[in-house]
Amino acid sequence: MLSISVKEFLFWKKTQLSKGGDHQSLALLLDSVCGISTSDLNLISINPEANLHIKKNLEFLESVWDYHLLNSCPIQYLCGITFWRDLKLKVTNKVLIPRPETELIVDIVFNIFRRKSEKLLFAELGTGSGAISIALALAYPLSNIVATDIDQYALEIANKNFINSSKQSNLKFYCGNWWSPLENFRGKLDLAISNPPYIPRDTYVKLPKEVKNFEPKVALLGGEDGLKHIREIIQKAPLFLKEKGWLILENHFDQGEKVKKILIENKFTSIEIMKDFSGIGRFTIGRYK
Ligand SMILES: C[S@@+](CC[C@H](N)C(=O)[O-])C[C@H]1O[C@@H](n2cnc3c(N)ncnc32)[C@H](O)[C@@H]1O
Repeated sequence: MLSISVKEFLFWKKTQLSKGGDHQSLALLLDSVCGISTSDLNLISINPEANLHIKKNLEFLESVWDYHLLNSCPIQYLCGITFWRDLKLKVTNKVLIPRPETELIVDIVFNIFRRKSEKLLFAELGTGSGAISIALALAYPLSNIVATDIDQYALEIANKNFINSSKQSNLKFYCGNWWSPLENFRGKLDLAISNPPYIPRDTYVKLPKEVKNFEPKVALLGGEDGLKHIREIIQKAPLFLKEKGWLILENHFDQGEKVKKILIENKFTSIEIMKDFSGIGRFTIGRYK
């Protein structure tokens, strides 16, 4: 641990932000690399005459911050962690950084399955860092969750995140294309949930460089119209869901009505397009018959 004055630290912080970037990214850097949380920051600001203990020196922190600004590399990848809901998750450039808007998908599940003590079977398709599945495994300790991803490396990260977040064993990971690793669960699922790659090709090529140059293409690109994976997931869902089982999908800002149509074509009922915090129809949900 290194000791510096609060005054010097606050001046350093202000200087870094004046170069660019946002408060949240700097807060993540300070928390993960330096051991100073946002609440620590609020507390120390009250007493500028005090001293502060930091894990890494300011030169090192500044070099990471400069790299982030110069290369548009997401700070989460440089720090190797992100915060999502109440989870602290390991992330590398092999997994998508879970987005704040996706946090709501877990609340949709909470609204459908209100009794946390029920014994249910959930599946997540395309788990990435494991964020959604881990949140569900923690919230429904008596239920089982099976999560898939096409990328074995992503599953290793997801598994590490689960071990770091829970002592339970109610979440299992399987590698393969969407439903294919879940043959043993045909007709048994109460719920399937997915935030699949849904960016249309012409939008993908224009994505900001902090996304396109760093986050995995396999996690973002949804074919020509963005709906390639959503179609495949919906078409096969009836084989795996129980009667009246639920399917919850995240989609691109303008895809809600199209996803609704695909759900209707595949005999889903109780279809709803649900909005995120920005008022965008971000999630489309339905029930199989
Ligand atoms: C948009 S990311 C979502 C990651 C995570 N669930 C989240 O919400 O942050 C989509 C995930 O689907 C996975 N994926 C892409 N194609 C797949 C396929 N054919 N079968 C299974 N998973 C796939 C990607 O590797 C990626 O982890």
